[in-house]
Amino acid sequence: MFTTAKSPDTTSHAQPRPVTLLSVGHNFMPLSWHMPVSKSPFRYAVCVRDENISHGLLHRYREFALNFLDFSYIEAYEKSGSSHGGEKFGLTDLTPKKADTITTTLIEEAYMIYECRIIDITGYGDHDIFVADVTMIHNKKVEVVKPVLFLGQGYYETTSHNPQRIAREEND
Ligand SMILES: Cc1cc2nc3c(=O)[nH]c(=O)nc-3n(C[C@H](O)[C@H](O)[C@H](O)COP(=O)(O)O)c2cc1C
Repeated sequence: MFTTAKSPDTTSHAQPRPVTLLSVGHNFMPLSWHMPVSKSPFRYAVCVRDENISHGLLHRYREFALNFLDFSYIEAYEKSGSSHGGEKFGLTDLTPKKADTITTTLIEEAYMIYECRIIDITGYGDHDIFVADVTMIHNKKVEVVKPVLFLGQGYYETTSHNPQRIAREEND
């Protein structure tokens, strides 16, 4: 039996969602509304609410980075998502890293980082979608990645590390 509603409550978001730390300028915030939109050229979209400091910074700098930190850093995700602006590197004990193609500060502890330059901004409601060219990818060779999955309401999870493969003719 379904219950019906016109807007999502805490039980009706499509979750869990992979979460990353979006940095722009010297600020960063956790972000779960993000997706690739083109493989070649590699382009990525992020969705950021207008009340966040990062929203204004994205319009100003027209660039950002996505810093994927593993499950051992969920406290840093939660802390940086509970404050607006300020010195978040100090707050979370994360280490700033210089980027190659943008002026935005990267996060050293990430296992993977995308440097991105914005090519389009569209607003549909209280969030804007920022579509960007991925201009550099940094990838650390780690044995097992424990990605961070956000469930809402301060709950985080990671994968079981027990992938089930379905036989198929072609692989991506
Ligand atoms: C796990 C998690 C995921 C989040 N995902 C998003 C998101 O996709 N888009 C967004 O605008 N805010 C998202 N937020 C909220 C912002 O991260 C939060 O408002 C943050 O404090 C904004 O920081 P800023 O004002 O310094 O930019 C998320 C928060 C958490 C904890």
